This record gives sequence, structure tokens and C-alpha cells, in this order.
Amino acid sequence: MNKTHTPRIFSGIQPSGGLTLGNYLGALKRFAALQETGIETIYCVVDLHAITVWQQPEKLRQQTREAAAAFMAAGVDPARSVLFNQSQVSAHAEMAWLFNTVARVGWMYRMTQFKDKAGKNSENASLGLLAYPALMAADILTYHATAVPVGDDQKQHLELTRDVATKFNHDYGVEFFPITEPLIEGAATRVMSLRDGSKKMSKSDPSDASRINLTDDADAIAQKIRKARTDADPLPGSMDGLKDRPEARNLVNIYAALSDETPDQVLARFEGQGFGAFKPALADVAVEVMAPIAKRMTEYMADPAEIDRILGNGADRADAIATPILNRTKDIIGLIRSRG
Ligand code: TYM
Repeated sequence: MNKTHTPRIFSGIQPSGGLTLGNYLGALKRFAALQETGIETIYCVVDLHAITVWQQPEKLRQQTREAAAAFMAAGVDPARSVLFNQSQVSAHAEMAWLFNTVARVGWMYRMTQFKDKAGKNSENASLGLLAYPALMAADILTYHATAVPVGDDQKQHLELTRDVATKFNHDYGVEFFPITEPLIEGAATRVMSLRDGSKKMSKSDPSDASRINLTDDADAIAQKIRKARTDADPLPGSMDGLKDRPEARNLVNIYAALSDETPDQVLARFEGQGFGAFKPALADVAVEVMAPIAKRMTEYMADPAEIDRILGNGADRADAIATPILNRTKDIIGLIRSRG
């Protein structure tokens, strides 16, 4: 379906609070790995998405830099990938408007993330929160991205992106936008809360013990894993045996994703053992992988001007790809462009 489009990867992360192990395993770690495939990679700190709920301005600036530091600490190299913050490339907002005229209101109301975030008083949510998926479609399609690595919670938004591309192509009789493939892969596409195996690990959970933050030090990581909710049974030899044990399944998935193994490989080693043995081993792996990331983040954060320079440079490169595609979109729609 994407025969005519050169492979290109795009993904983004909101700077709406500290990032978690879920963001790392579901997204950042894979962003760095995809950089090695030879396919062009474009990564974005999506600040325009973050402001769909109120953000304190100085904190937003800080969190945007912190998210950029997290990309780099996780291995995204701004020389090999394009790394920038969304609001510096105006094509995103312009394309989002064009897509607001393509997407249907009913599509937006169906989004589970809108329902979750807007809560009971959805009439009082910002209009931006409702239109959010059209901006996300714009992020992706303004680069003609063919593949988007994300965690499982973004699946519905990516389906909507495909719907926008399909409807635009159909309405204007073109094959202009690619039908983007979601890349939702690996053992940790949905990292769950350490306190409740039925809830996603999230930066917005009121309990700090529910998540591992990218900025947590070794002691905090080890302590949170020690206190993670589990059950009293020993571990089985394969994942089939963990169907009704969400907390245990989550910890095994986390272990597997951190150590680049399959969950079954992990279980083959721990079969018959309880959490008294498993948790310290998991804590060791988690500290080994996460502590250096926290350290690198601190190093990057010590020089905010350098982060801003990197983001500005990335935005120039992003703009050079996005603007011609935006211009062609305007031509297809029938919008006159006659400035010198
Ligand atoms: P955001 O900022 O909530 O999350 C960033 C990435 O982290 C993944 N993720 C998780 N993966 C596994 N387990 C978890 N517990 C977990 N929590 C978060 C998310 O799936 C995501 O990949 N709408 C997007 C941001 C966005 C975007 C885009 C993504 C805006 N435009 C274009 C891709 C392409 C969001 O809110 O992600």
C-alpha cells in the first residue's frame, strides 16, 4: 500500500510530566533501536499536544528539555535522527487544521483517551483535547511517515491517522498520504502500574510507587520493585501460566524487555521460584539499565542552552521535510499559494 513512499519513521512523546519506564520500554528504547535500521527517523517532543491540558509555562519549558534529554539519554542521536519540539515547526499546526476538515466529529468522540482525559465533565475539556488525534495525524502525515513506533495505548490514534489519510486520498482522488503502519512490538508494549496490574504505568498516577521514573536513582528503583504488588505463587515455566496473574505477568514482561529476552526465556530460568528470588534479580537488571540513563539525563539537563540549540537545529531539518509536503497538500485542496 505504501509502495510509492520511501520508508520513514516518526514518533513523539508529550512533555507533560516526568517520563516513566513505560515510556522507555514502549517507546524510547525502540526509537534508539530503529535508528540502527538505516531508515530515516524523526522524533518529536510534542509540546502542542501537552497544552491540550493546562501546563504551567516555566514547567512546560523544563519538561520539554527533560523529554529531549530523555530521548538522547536513551540513545537517540540528534546527528542521526531528527530531534525537535513540535511547536517550532508550524507545518504541524497548519496540517492539523487541514485535517480538522477531513476528520469527523464522531471519530473524535470515540477516542478512549479523550474519554479518559476529559472525564465526566467533557463539555469543559479544551477543544484541543477533542481535536488532539487530528494533530497527531498531522505530525505523522506531514512527514509522509510510513511507520510509527508506539506503545499499545496509541493504537486507536494510529487507526484514526490511517482513516484521515484514506479519507483525504479518497476525497481528493489522490494517492498522496501513506497508510501508516503502527509498530507496536516487544514484551513491553503496555507496562502496567507496579501497584495495580490492571492499570497502565503512567506519569499522571497520583502514586509515585506505581511507576519507575526515568529520573529515579538506583535506591528508588530497587525499593519500588521490592514493594511492587505480586502474589504468593511460584513462577511457572511459560507465559501461559500467568494468564490470571497480571502483576506477575507485568514484572516478567518488564524483565524480558529490559534484558532483551522473550518472557518465556526469562521464565525458563525462574521456573518454580517465588518473588523473593525474582524481585532482587529484576531490581538488578532495572538498575543496570536505568541508572545510566538517569545519569546521562542529568548531564544533558546541566546545559539547557545546548538542548535548545539541538532542538532548534532539529526543527530546521524537520521543517525542510514538512513544508514541501504541506505545500503540496494545500495545492491538492485548492488553496492559492502566491507569495514570493
Ligand atoms: P505519550 O506521551 O503518552 O507516551 C509516549 C510513548 O510512550 C508510550 N507509553 C507506554 N508504552 C508502554 N507502556 C506504558 N505504560 C506506556 N506509557 C506510555 C506511548 O504509547 C507512546 O508511544 N499521543 C502520543 C504522543 C504523540 C505521538 C504523535 C506519537 C503525538 N503525536 C505522533 C506517535 C506519533 C502520546 O500522548 O504519547
